Amino acid sequence: MVEDLFDLAQLEARETRPVCEPMALAELVQDVMQKFQLRAQQAGVALDWQIPESSPFVNADFALTERVLDNLIVNALDHVEEGGKIALQVTQHASASEATVKVTDSGKGIAEDELPHIFEPFYRNRQSTHEGGHAGLALAIARRMVELQGGAYIRCQ
Ligand SMILES: Nc1ncnc2c1ncn2[C@@H]1O[C@H](COP(=O)(O)OP(=O)(O)OP(=O)(O)O)[C@@H](O)[C@H]1O
Ligand SMILES: [Mg+2]
Repeated sequence: MVEDLFDLAQLEARETRPVCEPMALAELVQDVMQKFQLRAQQAGVALDWQIPESSPFVNADFALTERVLDNLIVNALDHVEEGGKIALQVTQHASASEATVKVTDSGKGIAEDELPHIFEPFYRNRQSTHEGGHAGLALAIARRMVELQGGAYIRCQ
């Protein structure tokens, strides 16, 4: 949590410099999903990921992109019920060096009126039942990391 605060401060101060290079997004997705496989299994949650046949190479910073995916999957694991599902879908853009990554889960979702705020630092879902340890930083960090690489975050409706 303290590390998150430090990371966000560095991102806001633009001290984090992304090193973007052609990166096999499929391999990163594969690694990240495998990393969470055991934890998901223990929670009784299915992980499902779909990557286009022709594996997209995107222009991105590997470490930052991994952190973005980590944060989204951890959030999904935090909110999905036993027997539920987390899905990750990669869509390649026509302009080859870009792709969209979509993470969805079978949890109860986020109220419409809260959606505009969840990527703000320190915003926590008002129904959040988590006891401490959650600062409301993971999505703010993910958003800034995506933006630093010239990408955009899109809230799914
Ligand atoms: N997959 C999800 N389903 C439902 N609510 C979510 C999901 N992901 C995020 N949220 C809600 O959005 C808010 C912001 O999420 P964020 O991850 O930034 O903070 P957090 O989980 O409260 O804290 P932490 O910094 O420890 O991740 C939280 O209140 C969280 O409950
Ligand atoms: Mg979180």
